[in-house]
Amino acid sequence: MQNLTIVDHPLVQHKLTIMRCKDTSTASFRRLLREIAHLLCYEVTRDLETEQIDIETPVGPTKAPALKGKKLVFASILRAGEGLLEGMLDLVPSARVAHIGLYRDPETLEAVEYYFKMPSDAADRLIIVVDPMLATANSAIAAVQKLKDRGANNLRFLCLLAAPEGVERFTRIHPDVPIFTASLDEKLNDHGYIVPGLGDAGDRMYGTR
Ligand code: PRP
Ligand code: URA
Repeated sequence: MQNLTIVDHPLVQHKLTIMRCKDTSTASFRRLLREIAHLLCYEVTRDLETEQIDIETPVGPTKAPALKGKKLVFASILRAGEGLLEGMLDLVPSARVAHIGLYRDPETLEAVEYYFKMPSDAADRLIIVVDPMLATANSAIAAVQKLKDRGANNLRFLCLLAAPEGVERFTRIHPDVPIFTASLDEKLNDHGYIVPGLGDAGDRMYGTR
């Protein structure tokens, strides 16, 4: 599928399998999400530009590569995005962070916004939007639109699981935003849940329901 990268590394797939199991504890689920975020972060940042900078090792001066340009922004879609965000920040601690509070109305499946905060100078940076689940894509579409309305023009979307229906809708509306995921699942069910999926990511992370 166009614009879609599936990170099918064996470690990602193994951890994801444990997360899918219904008996996996909340604590294990959170830990695994953070670990997978490290591996997904590695892929989504693979093509970042570097530049040679002057440094001095204990043995002498040299030039060595360092990330070039402005710091990244990670935009977390609340609540479940926080699980991926933590792992992303482990690898890129200097990244700026935006928060987008959205929940899915259980009847209409429309995204309802309740919070938005982004760094004031985020518009000219690469923004990686994170949320474990891309189901109908209503939440992802709304989050990316909000960021674009504030001037963002260089975005990527990172999730753990995607449904084909969500990928199709998202790429139709935001064709300029590449999607990275650990799995393209089979379909959505009648309640807009990803099948086979892993259930409600936020509930599984925080032990709610
Ligand atoms: C979940 C998930 C996404 C959204 C995906 O959040 O974390 O944000 O559903 O579904 P969609 O693609 O159909 O919009 P939820 O609304 O359950 O909120 P939560 O993270 O607060 O639990
Ligand atoms: N949100 C979730 O948390 N899980 C799904 O399967 C769909 C939307």
